[in-house]
Amino acid sequence: MSDTDETQLEARLADQTEFEPPESFVEQANVTDPDIYEEFEENWPDCWERAADLLDWETDHDEVLVDDDEPFYEWFVGGELNASENCVDRHLEDRGDELAIQWEGELGETRSYTYEELHREVNECAAALRDLGVGEDDIVTMYMPMVPELPIAMLACARIGAPHSVVFAGFSADALATRMNAADSEYLVTCDGYYRRGDGLDHISKANEGLEGVDHETTTVVVDRLGDDLDHELGDDQLDYDDLVADYEGESVEPVVRDAEDMLFLMYTSGTTGKPKGVKHTTGGYLSYAAWTSHSVLDVKPDDTYWCSADIGWITGHSYIVYGPLALGTTTVMYEGTPDYPDKDRMWEIVENYEVDQLYTAPTAIRAFMKWGEEYPEQHDLSSLRLLGTVGEPINPKAWKWYYKHIGNESCPIVDTWWQTETGGMMITTLPGIATMKPGSAGPPLPGIDAQVVDESGEEVAPGEAGYVTVNKPWPGMLRTLYRNDDRFINEYWEAYSDEEADEWVYFPEDGAKIDDDGYITILGRVDDVINVSGHRLGTMEIESAVVDVEGVAEAAAVGGDHDMKGEAVYTYVILEDGYEESEEMRQSIVEGVEDGIGPIARPEQVIFTPELPKTRSGKIMRRLLEDIANDDDLGNTSTLRNPDIVDDIQEKVRSD
Ligand code: PRX
Repeated sequence: MSDTDETQLEARLADQTEFEPPESFVEQANVTDPDIYEEFEENWPDCWERAADLLDWETDHDEVLVDDDEPFYEWFVGGELNASENCVDRHLEDRGDELAIQWEGELGETRSYTYEELHREVNECAAALRDLGVGEDDIVTMYMPMVPELPIAMLACARIGAPHSVVFAGFSADALATRMNAADSEYLVTCDGYYRRGDGLDHISKANEGLEGVDHETTTVVVDRLGDDLDHELGDDQLDYDDLVADYEGESVEPVVRDAEDMLFLMYTSGTTGKPKGVKHTTGGYLSYAAWTSHSVLDVKPDDTYWCSADIGWITGHSYIVYGPLALGTTTVMYEGTPDYPDKDRMWEIVENYEVDQLYTAPTAIRAFMKWGEEYPEQHDLSSLRLLGTVGEPINPKAWKWYYKHIGNESCPIVDTWWQTETGGMMITTLPGIATMKPGSAGPPLPGIDAQVVDESGEEVAPGEAGYVTVNKPWPGMLRTLYRNDDRFINEYWEAYSDEEADEWVYFPEDGAKIDDDGYITILGRVDDVINVSGHRLGTMEIESAVVDVEGVAEAAAVGGDHDMKGEAVYTYVILEDGYEESEEMRQSIVEGVEDGIGPIARPEQVIFTPELPKTRSGKIMRRLLEDIANDDDLGNTSTLRNPDIVDDIQEKVRSD
């Protein structure tokens, strides 16, 4: 293309606000009939049979939805199934020799599993776990990087009816201990280490440190990923994964029949207050929903090679690396490492090598690709791509268009999918074979999803006005409760907008949004005290408690400030105890305190020492003001504060840092 053509194209793209799905995509899309929205509405909740029908059931359900104890909804009641059977066994006949998992390590080594091979290993792992004592409903924690043994262990647990609780490998030892204690989890599957930028990273020491903080007996299985690159010794209650599984070679384990409403897994996530909450997902509703959204939104077909570049340690990886794609019998790609190792074209090399059909990634990654430049994708043949997706945070139109042009070659629809750990699967996004795309806006709610944008009193806002997202009807993939904390489940998600007297239950996801005349929803971000760093959800309270645990810190406030690459970054404002002075060492120990308490992802961008925090007359920290200071925004009137003078001092400090 000549330079002038290129400039004209850029100009056209910059002005364009609406994009139609490419004809070539529509012709082959899984869902193409626009009447689906109406059909789902008219036929609700029975419309969800369509999701359940994507699975194989041992026993069919009696009722699609039971709602006599709201908001404790139950889906596909009376139905029985096994998730591992659905993700593995049922594909054996037609697709036994086809790839289920295509894994690539950071150093370039590859491992692949056909459905037949996956079946064998899942069975062996299930037999081993069962003999270790894992029974139905025992929670097995997994603290693992992106190695194939992670989905294998998840599916092995599902096979024997043991819910898993996967803790992101980047989280700290403390975070692991907190989650194992909260779930009373007596089993851990972990890994000696993994590669990052070519170096073998020790993970087992962190796991062991975490285990020291667990208040009950545990049994641990350790995957040896690093071989000679890291020597590790196993403790008394620790077994080597390969040795263990070798003892069960060729064994098969009958999948345990689970009720639709039986727990499939727990996933701990951050909220405004207190400790991370254990989001409970079920076997029937969750799996149906993950399969349905993979089919309708990601357009997954069995013959595809599909790649979601998230980490399985987050919900995106659960729903859209493991359960959704494998339930549909496709090939799911897993990559261990970073996108810029050994060079910034690593992602595009993977797309080319495996002829990836769909790529699902995060806006934070797209912003990095943009910064690195289009010369990296240009080095590779990306023509296998049919659909692109994003998740985790708002994507700005500029990044959307860059993705559309430089990765999708203007011939792939983009689905900007809004959802949460709690929703189990996608909620607001365009259907790629049907809807016009508007960069920056996620799109309308999916068929059958009654999402609205409302004001404080629950009334729908006029187009263009900012409000809050609510979901006014239940859906199969929804969380059922917070583990062992039904009260908190109600407080956190249902109290804000429900009218208990009228028996009207409304789910509040704690996101702000706008809606346009066509019903397209643009997500504005969290309205609670959750920070979204590179699409990762962190609670300000958790960060603050890690900071105040540092010796010499008297009080701390953590807020999110805008960040070009990460979306948001953590800013901490710190008051020191008498006798402690602001210093580089102090700053360092605070940063380390956060890394030890939560993990490197929560690392503060700035630590600002101050003698006071701006507070209201009633003594509440003014977080919004601290956010405005971090963003260098106009602060408006601060005279109602108890201590208005401090604001200028803090602002000065942030600016000069
Ligand atoms: O604020 C929304 C943002 O991520 C939050 C959910 O985080 P988590 O439970 O960790 O799940 C992330 C992956 C599903 C939401 O409350 N979020 C997620 N997707 C989008 C988004 N914000 C804007 N646009 C999205 N597509």
